[in-house]
Parts: sequence; C-alpha cells; structure tokens
Amino acid sequence: MLEGYAGRLFWKLLLALWASMLLSIVVAVAYLRSVELAAAPASMALTPPPSVPLLPLLPLAPVITGMVAMFAAGVGVAWYLAVPLRQLRRGLAQVAEGRFDVRVRPALGRRRDELAELADDFDRMAAQLQQLARSRQELLHDISHEMRSPLARMQAAIGLLRQDATQAAAMIDRIERESERMDALVEELLTLHRLEAAPESWAEGTVDVLDLLHAVAEDAGFEARAAGRELRIDAPGEFVARVRGELLHRAFENVVRNAVKYTAAGTAVEIQARVDGGELVVTVADRGPGVPEHARTLMFQPFTRLEGASSVRGIGLGLAIAQRALQLNGGSIEAGARPGGGLVMTLRLRAT
Ligand SMILES: Nc1ncnc2c1ncn2[C@@H]1O[C@H](COP(=O)(O)OP(=O)(O)OP(=O)(O)O)[C@@H](O)[C@H]1O
Ligand SMILES: [Mg+2]
Repeated sequence: MLEGYAGRLFWKLLLALWASMLLSIVVAVAYLRSVELAAAPASMALTPPPSVPLLPLLPLAPVITGMVAMFAAGVGVAWYLAVPLRQLRRGLAQVAEGRFDVRVRPALGRRRDELAELADDFDRMAAQLQQLARSRQELLHDISHEMRSPLARMQAAIGLLRQDATQAAAMIDRIERESERMDALVEELLTLHRLEAAPESWAEGTVDVLDLLHAVAEDAGFEARAAGRELRIDAPGEFVARVRGELLHRAFENVVRNAVKYTAAGTAVEIQARVDGGELVVTVADRGPGVPEHARTLMFQPFTRLEGASSVRGIGLGLAIAQRALQLNGGSIEAGARPGGGLVMTLRLRAT
C-alpha cells in the first residue's frame, strides 16, 4: 500500500524514531521492575535484595534515558535532512543566478534515498538548462553569422555600384539575391520559432497525406529535370489522417529538395510510400554523397551544414523544421545509408 510513497528515507526516519522510543520504554520497564523487586518482602524474593539499591537512587533514569535517546534521534534526523537540503538550496540559488554548471549529487556521497533521488533530478534539470542555454547561445551566434554574410555581400555590391555605374545591373541582381536569401533565413527562423513557441498555431485538418507528397514530388521533379536529375515516385493509394498539413508539406518539401540538391548529376531520386499497419512510411532515396553515421543525428540540429555542403545552397534549417514538424504530427524522421551509395530518409506517420 505504501509502495510509491515510502522510500528509504521514510523507513530510516521511522526506524530511528521508533528505536529511540523503544529504548525509552525498555529502560522505563526495567526501572519499574527493579523498584518492584526492591520493594518485595525478602521471603518472596528469590535472591536477597541488594544491600545498596542502585536504581531507586536514580528515580529520573527512565526520563533521562528517554530524553537522551530522543535527543540523539532528533539530532541524527535533523542532520540527515538538513545537510542535503542545504546543498539543494545552495544549488537552487546558483541556478537562479544562471549558473547551470552546478551539481548537487556528488556532495551527498553514497546515500541512496529520496533526497539523493531529488539531487539526481536537480542535476538532470541543471544539465538540461545548461544544454538549453548553450544551444540558445549557439543559435544566436549562428543567426548573426548567417545574417552577416549576405549583408557583407550586399554592402560590397553597393560599394562597387558606387564606384562603377556600368555594373549596375549585375550588382542589383546580386543585392536582390542576397536580400532573398535573408528573407528565406528570417522566414525559416520564424517557422522554427513558431514550431517551438506556439505549435498549436498550425491549423489541423483531415488531409490525404499522399496527395501532399504527390504535389511536392511534382514541383521538385520539375526542378530536378531542369538540373539534369530524375525524380520517381511510387506512392499508391491514400492515407487520410488528421494532421497539420502545412507543416507536413514543408517537411516533405525540404527532404525531397535536399535529395534533389545532393543527388549526383544524371541520377534519380526515388520516393516510395507504403501504408503498413496504420502507419505511413515514406522513403526518399538519392544517389548523393550520403551522410556518415555519426552525423545522421547532428544533421537535424539547426544550422548544421555538413562537410561538402558548402557548394550547395542552403541555410541548414530545413531538416530541423522537418523533424519538429513530424514530431508535432506524432511522426518521426531518420536518415540512413542507401545500399549502393547515397542517403535514404525515412519518414513515419501514424493515422489518427
Ligand atoms: N540528401 C542529402 N544528402 C547529403 N547530405 C544531406 C542531404 N540532406 C541533408 N544533408 C546535409 O544535412 C544538412 C542539413 O540539411 P538541411 O535541410 O537542414 O539544411 P540545408 O538544406 O543546407 O538548408 P535549408 O534546408 O535550410 O535551405 C545539409 O546542409 C547537408 O550537409
Ligand atoms: Mg534543406
């Protein structure tokens, strides 16, 4: 019945208090018994009464023993509780000051009870906050870096334009491209922020997800052919589900566009979709450079651009958005190696 409520700490405290009370009772009973024996007529006593009765000289013995036992138990319990609570308090004060590298558990030594568990939870929370603070820091750094490059190129173009008016058309083109790039960056950042801060703001509706996929494939196929690549899709039937359609569209779009961007010239991107036990599984496979195993989780972090990506346009936010978009729809996305070379992205979605 007590399971889940009473842990080690509960039993330790209960035992300490109970043992000190037991000790007091034992001493009191022993005292009363000795008084009784001392008062009994000599004929009834088995042994003759002691010539100097010791215990009757100490009538306060049970009271004193009880007080000492309770005091010792009280000190022990108070110490046992106060030390870790002080550590936790100190830890909380440091976290409140923004110092997330504080850890409490090592100061508690080898104890294993509810307070030690609380310290573990505290440490986990501090580690999580530390990670969040670090990624926010990195994100800010990445954003400023990403903003600075197009701005620097725009300023250079304006400088050239001032010096040499004959290059006006080329420089205006350059400025236009850079401002488009900044616009795309801001747009993706806002999407990412909205996904995290207000996920409920994306409208939900009943959609045939395979229709979405076909629409994305049609657009991307057009681009692929213009760039000397092929795009094939094999996604029969329908998969009607209640989803945030706009988000799913973005997720498919980014994954398919990535495949088209990275697949080698003259090769084909292959999209397959199957419904398997109430789950839609979409794979997008290309014949590009692929992604080494250690980077297949990293690539979903904002602003991650892997080695070799510098020759291909991109900001590094698409997959971060795609992953959050799928998670918000109760699905998942993962990257794997394609036999024969290239990358295969697997997107899963459950019917709701
Ligand atoms: N199909 C792929 N083949 C090889 N590498 C890939 C592939 N898809 C993604 N990547 C790697 O993962 C990184 C992150 O992809 P992501 O879609 O988030 O960013 P991006 O395409 O560079 O920019 P964005 O999508 O924001 O315009 C890419 O920069 C690239 O290094
Ligand atoms: Mg992308």
